[in-house]
Amino acid sequence: MKNFNSNTANSQEWLTPPDILRALGPFDLDPCAPVSRPWDMAARHYTVLDDGLSKPWQGRVWLNPPYGSEVFSWLERLADHRSGLALIFARTETRGFHRTIWAKAHAVFFFCGRLRFFHVNGTQGGTANAPSCLVSYGDDDTASIAAALDAGHINGRLVLL
Ligand SMILES: C[S@@+](CC[C@H](N)C(=O)[O-])C[C@H]1O[C@@H](n2cnc3c(N)ncnc32)[C@H](O)[C@@H]1O
Repeated sequence: MKNFNSNTANSQEWLTPPDILRALGPFDLDPCAPVSRPWDMAARHYTVLDDGLSKPWQGRVWLNPPYGSEVFSWLERLADHRSGLALIFARTETRGFHRTIWAKAHAVFFFCGRLRFFHVNGTQGGTANAPSCLVSYGDDDTASIAAALDAGHINGRLVLL
């Protein structure tokens, strides 16, 4: 099975578990969605064909960005946009994490256990090889994490910054 660090053509296509989207949504825009997707992540989507980083962002954003060093360009954009949530690996020591999250975010939610992301055909992949976290840049989005946690839809620890 391909893992999350594999350098393969489809190594970017790891989809958010839909129960997490349901628990935290609704969202107005996913700026980095798969071209072919088994479900909607938000009301509107940009794909690699649009280059979502170069397009205007409107409304509440769901951001599970492409992996690699460019992940922090997307986080920088969400930090400026302020409305929405990001789902990224909790590599908390990296310079990018320090620059875009520790220095700017409103809250970080650390999932208990590892997530299992989905393939574009709608099937679930294996356990991720890194821990994941949610990042919020504002009160309302932090409240949406707290509500999902209280309702038992997600399990982990919410850290206010
Ligand atoms: C980790 S997946 C997450 C997919 C989706 N956002 C979700 O939450 O399920 C990252 C996605 O970003 C897309 N992508 C890569 N580069 C992109 C770009 N420049 N603009 C928009 N989407 C891009 C990939 O095709 C892939 O579908």
